[in-house]
Amino acid sequence: MSCRVCSGRLTEFADFGRQPVSDAFVTPGDTREEFSFRLAVGICETCTMVQLLEEVPRERMFHEAYPYLSSGSSVMREHFQALAKSLLATELSGPDPFVVELGCNDGTMLRSIAEAGVRHLGVEPSGGVADLAASKGVRVVKDFFEEATARRIRDADGPADVIYAANTLCHIPYMESILSGVDALLRPDGVFVFEDPYLADILERASFDQIYDEHFFFFAAGSVQEMARRSGFELVGVERLPVHGGEVRYTLARAGARRRSPAVDELLAAEASAGVTDLATLRGFAARVERTRDELVELLTGLRDKGATVAGYGATAKSATVLNYCGIGPELVPFICDTTPAKQGRLTPGSGIPVRGPEAFAGPYPEYAVLFAWNHAEEIMAKERAFREAGGRWILYVPEVRLV
Ligand code: SAH
Ligand code: TYD
Ligand code: ZN
Repeated sequence: MSCRVCSGRLTEFADFGRQPVSDAFVTPGDTREEFSFRLAVGICETCTMVQLLEEVPRERMFHEAYPYLSSGSSVMREHFQALAKSLLATELSGPDPFVVELGCNDGTMLRSIAEAGVRHLGVEPSGGVADLAASKGVRVVKDFFEEATARRIRDADGPADVIYAANTLCHIPYMESILSGVDALLRPDGVFVFEDPYLADILERASFDQIYDEHFFFFAAGSVQEMARRSGFELVGVERLPVHGGEVRYTLARAGARRRSPAVDELLAAEASAGVTDLATLRGFAARVERTRDELVELLTGLRDKGATVAGYGATAKSATVLNYCGIGPELVPFICDTTPAKQGRLTPGSGIPVRGPEAFAGPYPEYAVLFAWNHAEEIMAKERAFREAGGRWILYVPEVRLV
């Protein structure tokens, strides 16, 4: 394996063993062997991009039955509404603006753009969620974004003022094709805005469950700046975001086209002083993750041995890494509650834990609940206040194993 950005040499620093496709929830009774791959992470010795060492074919992850819904969190719905409003007031305020979103999923962001009557296009390869976007009045094409897709859009619709991607660019290993596509589609002074989990936050919080098949790249300002430079773009803006456990929203523009925000240099300096790309930091992260695994397994085993009742909350893609890396199955977590229709009635990939609807949580409440959707802790704890009031305790494992 070599770097998917610059072909440089990769140094491995963490290995999570064999893992299934994180969103491939299994139909009970389906005895076909699940696909698996080695989940390991490395850093490029040349451009510092942190990335997976093995790639899962994209059609195995993103297809008609891809279950993840962006609209599953009210905090995220508000987050995307605010972003749409801000784009409409700035980059999309000229005559006949046009915005393209990569990975628009069920249309949570673009519906606000469509409602404002602004020209837009969602590019979304997962058919089921793309249909949901279309049902909200969003114009969507069922395709993987890559250079050829970008050229087709440019020919049909003309140049884009904004290309936007949330929690999608980090899913795409074929970065050269993406950036050539952005170059083909973007207006000369347009912007490419994307937001993804931030490497520095993952390292600081030891949020190792951000590492799974779909998350191929782990961006930081330094690696994104270098990636942009290699393709004739410049990193002109960064904004830290509190969502999904800590993200950064990056803005790229063609080299020299925009003034560069001082926030970029500030974040680069912060990354340098925190040593986010030092091997010692990355190896320290890996050691901390092993401790988290041992403590979580010890806690859950102890609870089982004393006969306590336990459930999980949020059948996240992230939980696949936790469950399979820690060897946690239904004997330790008998079921997981989740609001996503396409996950309910199925089993978690690799670990075989039944997924039930949120109504199963209260019937009766377990004594302990592992919050696999810890990135939505505030929203879920508020919604499930009665669980704590009934004496229930949340189990968290990021940034460390603890009861709340
Ligand atoms: N933007 C949404 C969805 C993120 S999930 C949000 O932030 O909530 C990632 C999405 O990217 C999935 O819907 C997946 O189907 C889509 N995706 C994966 N590869 C893609 C590609 N090459 N081009 C466009 N979308 C892609
Ligand atoms: P999320 O953490 O957003 O992403 P990923 O799957 O990529 O790790 O997933 C949140 C999951 O939690 C999703 O399956 C929906 C579920 N969920 C609930 O069941 N109830 C809730 O109140 C919220 C906010 C999420
Ligand atoms: Zn590289």
